[in-house]
Amino acid sequence: MTVDELNEELWAAMKASEYADKRPVFGLGSPNAKIALVGEAPGHEEEKLGEPFVGKAGKNLTEFLKAVGLTRDELYITNAVKLRPSKPSPKTGRALNRTPNAREIEFFNPYLHRELEIISAKYIVTLGNVPLRAVTGQDLKIGDCHGRLLSAGVYKNVFALYHPAAVIYNQSLKEVYLRDLEALCDEIRSV
Ligand code: URA
Repeated sequence: MTVDELNEELWAAMKASEYADKRPVFGLGSPNAKIALVGEAPGHEEEKLGEPFVGKAGKNLTEFLKAVGLTRDELYITNAVKLRPSKPSPKTGRALNRTPNAREIEFFNPYLHRELEIISAKYIVTLGNVPLRAVTGQDLKIGDCHGRLLSAGVYKNVFALYHPAAVIYNQSLKEVYLRDLEALCDEIRSV
């Protein structure tokens, strides 16, 4: 099965579910990528453009990747949840991004694993707690395992990074983030 075929199946499952009116944002990138990056869920910009990591967090991510010499074409980028989780703003009623809930994560989880199996990238890089847990199936904390390789079930090389949006809100994470990315690069280039 190809990723496109899997996406068609997922879209059909969404249309038959409580998420029928949501627009999915599927993974993007080379199916032969060595690294699969897994984010949390698309935000407003991603939903609008139908591509993962094209908003503010994506710009941050691209900048970090550039700083360590990785380009987007070396990667496959996807999310643990393929729809934009939103809630109405109490002030304006407009949709605001929110963290995906357990039900959304569970709905997309089997598709995420099938997607990762098809891509079979050597490294899976998780961005933040949601994908770290969705990929490993373990109740891990990013603060305890960022910047090093983990092995979890069929995934032998999981590398946990903070979510790029976390760095927008907490500038002190920037150095940690760059150090972690350098460690990832050293690992990848040593093979
Ligand atoms: N944050 C994510 O986790 N994924 C996106 O696609 C965009 C922002």
